[in-house]
Amino acid sequence: MRDGFVAQLSERAAPRPLPVPSERERLRTAFSRFPTGVCVVTFEADGVKRGITVNSFTSVSFDPALLLVSIQRSASSHDLVIDRPFAVNVLGSSQERVAWSFAGRPNDVPVWVEGERAPRLAGVLAWFECTPWAAYDGGDHTLVLGEIQSFRSRRGDPLGFNGARFTEISETVLGREHLV
Ligand SMILES: Cc1cc2nc3c(=O)[nH]c(=O)nc-3n(C[C@H](O)[C@H](O)[C@H](O)COP(=O)(O)O)c2cc1C
Repeated sequence: MRDGFVAQLSERAAPRPLPVPSERERLRTAFSRFPTGVCVVTFEADGVKRGITVNSFTSVSFDPALLLVSIQRSASSHDLVIDRPFAVNVLGSSQERVAWSFAGRPNDVPVWVEGERAPRLAGVLAWFECTPWAAYDGGDHTLVLGEIQSFRSRRGDPLGFNGARFTEISETVLGREHLV
């Protein structure tokens, strides 16, 4: 009886081989250890307002004022965004659904704001309207540099992305604005 039970148990506990992560998955996991904010790059093409969620936003230069986003070549936005004005919208912590909307999982209808050079999104923590500055080969991505023509920001908690999950980042209370 007991032997049968043990046999049953060991049968149940027989280790199933874990799937071996591919090199690409291991690299994706390693990249995900670097926490970031979340932005949506918005633009208008052929009269249609479009956007793509990115976490590759980087500030680049003050003079001239430049920023960078890295856009995957396979994205439908890729060919459209590289040589036209665009806006980078920094999402707040309550805008996870907005992030999903522009990452291939449309849900709510986005609330658009008419920008001077490109459409923007309502309720964001910061926005930058840009004209195209340069585009560099970045392997399966293109590094798109924009020259910032206008921008605004407000206080609030940003949406974060860490370990491949959305998270809330608490606003720094004693931020730089108190030091300068
Ligand atoms: C949090 C997050 C960050 C992302 N960051 C980027 C990014 O930096 N660059 C990029 O090309 N795609 C990024 N993506 C993937 C695109 O948002 C997604 O592939 C999108 O559906 C492409 O849209 P499109 O093919 O309609 O242009 C990210 C997605 C998420 C959820």
